[in-house]
Amino acid sequence: MAAPDKKAIGARAFLYPMPTTLVGANVGGRPNYLAVAFCGIVQAKPAMISVALGRNHHTNAGIRENGTFSVNIPSRHMVEVTDYCGIVSGKKVDKSGLFETFYGKLETAPMIRECPVNMECKLVKTLDFGSTNEVFIGEIIESYAEEKYLCNGTPDIEKVVPILFSMYDNNYWEIGRHLGRAWCVGKKFNGNGNPENGYMGKSDSETLNK
Ligand SMILES: Cc1cc2nc3c(=O)[nH]c(=O)nc-3n(C[C@H](O)[C@H](O)[C@H](O)COP(=O)(O)O)c2cc1C
Repeated sequence: MAAPDKKAIGARAFLYPMPTTLVGANVGGRPNYLAVAFCGIVQAKPAMISVALGRNHHTNAGIRENGTFSVNIPSRHMVEVTDYCGIVSGKKVDKSGLFETFYGKLETAPMIRECPVNMECKLVKTLDFGSTNEVFIGEIIESYAEEKYLCNGTPDIEKVVPILFSMYDNNYWEIGRHLGRAWCVGKKFNGNGNPENGYMGKSDSETLNK
């Protein structure tokens, strides 16, 4: 069934929001960090994460060299330095002094002390589609966070205050209101109308435009 009110807006990746991460690798023995939004979870156990990087970035050489990298979650107050890491390349500017670097079990994956959450990864696969990006898949060997960012041993999003990214319009955002508990609020769902006809709830834009 066609939807006449829907306009085709192009085959583009409209995922909202995207994470803003800082990915680290040692290049020639020196830590280098770049901003990465193309970061995703591959699987939970063993935990694996993917980063899609433009093949000419300086960081890629370090990931290949050591077979290790890190994914660091910067906090709201780090938005300027994070953006800077996404503007300048380690090929031209030494970014190693921007942060206090620490190392974990892998010993070659540099991590950022100032970031509330850090994941050190061992490279397990590189996907190459022959395009501009190559995708590095890493097994997370260990994660790190200071006690002040945790709730029951897990990073608390309200304490971490991650930077959210909106691609195509190039904007950073922070988290908003809590909506409910996952795998829980759905139990209260009653069809919101006629269950046979699917979900007919009013969207936020309809409500806001009133
Ligand atoms: C918000 C933001 C997100 C970015 N996401 C990615 C990404 O997912 N993949 C990528 O290859 N480059 C991404 N970039 C661009 C790189 O961070 C940028 O080209 C960086 O200077 C490369 O650094 P390097 O050459 O030192 O590795 C992003 C930049 C910004 C500002």
